[in-house]
Amino acid sequence: MAGKISRRSEAVDPFIVMDVMAAAAAKEAAGGTVIHLEVGQPSTPAPRAALAAAHAALDADRIGYVAALGMPALRERIAKHYRETYKTEVSPERVIVTTGSSGGFPLAFLASFDAGDRVALAAPGYPAYRNILSALHLEAVDLPTSQADRFQPTVAALEKAHREKPLAGLIVASPSNPTGTMVTRAELAALCQWCDANHVRMISDEIYHGIVYEGETTSAVEVSDHAVVVNSFSKYFSMTGWRVGWLVVPDELVRPIERLTQNFFISVPTLSQYAALAAFDAKDELDAHVHRYRANRDLLMAGLPAAGLDRLTPAQGAFYIYADVSHLTNDSRDFCQRMLAEAGVATTPGVDFDRARGAGTLRISFAGSTAEMEEAVRRIKAWRKK
Ligand SMILES: Cc1ncc(COP(=O)(O)O)c(C=O)c1O
Repeated sequence: MAGKISRRSEAVDPFIVMDVMAAAAAKEAAGGTVIHLEVGQPSTPAPRAALAAAHAALDADRIGYVAALGMPALRERIAKHYRETYKTEVSPERVIVTTGSSGGFPLAFLASFDAGDRVALAAPGYPAYRNILSALHLEAVDLPTSQADRFQPTVAALEKAHREKPLAGLIVASPSNPTGTMVTRAELAALCQWCDANHVRMISDEIYHGIVYEGETTSAVEVSDHAVVVNSFSKYFSMTGWRVGWLVVPDELVRPIERLTQNFFISVPTLSQYAALAAFDAKDELDAHVHRYRANRDLLMAGLPAAGLDRLTPAQGAFYIYADVSHLTNDSRDFCQRMLAEAGVATTPGVDFDRARGAGTLRISFAGSTAEMEEAVRRIKAWRKK
């Protein structure tokens, strides 16, 4: 007799984009070519300075465990980043290095919430929030959003959800995955004020900061003393596989998170921390990626409407365009499968991001090369003409 399988693990949904990636790989293995607009990661490696630092560390250091909260030099460098980028003083004591931002979420959630607590989040949104919450026996409360509110939570929607049954937390992602939309500074401040006044923990996912085309990014640390900020070296810093990110937490959460991370992880990969420290010196190289993303975004926004994909959310940041395809299909999964099989273009069906309305949407990632974006537009146009 096999042992049991937990109900909590069965409540966790698969990440459908992974299925799309597998189908794309199968097509390529069979000799087909695929333009990858489904991937949620930079197409570039870690910056040269980070790679050089990693090589040097391999030669000079034994790469053992380091402090659970992160290498002191990296925590200090991240604190300096807040001074440089947001003109805000953050004590290095409040910075916690994590195994990607993915490693930060369970720490932040476990330190802030008890089983059964309700945590609000925008729909559409990044699917792992809901899945990590449910694995931890927390209730994800969808706040349905629309293009009118830039797919971001509003104080009115929060109040409504809180009246139904009190909330313990709110997750905000700006720029957002999958919509690329942002909250303004005033909106973020209002959300934080509401959270602080109602004893609701604000979790601000700032992983796409640095990849911005319109408007300014505000960090929640600028407008609240109680928010938890989640960030990562994966996106702007182009270091997905290094699995390194960080949290900025209020003083009262430092020790609870330290206890959790000591036990869960011991420490974050040491080699990656050396590389991450040097990545802050690669601004020119990294900003060049952002220029390419902008060119890609402009190319798709101009080219896709002629292929019938004309209900597009203009991305203010990140590298995603969220497309409403409800006039073309009522099954985005099938639509994406056909586009992959017949046009050789892989995209992500919206059901990953919005369980209620995602059958009519899809996410287009423009993290690849500009030549790939040109080819994608050409292929989708030819496919739609058939
Ligand atoms: C909004 C958002 N948050 C967090 C993550 C997790 O990234 P990582 O664990 O690589 O930092 C992703 C990855 O795509 C994301 O899109």
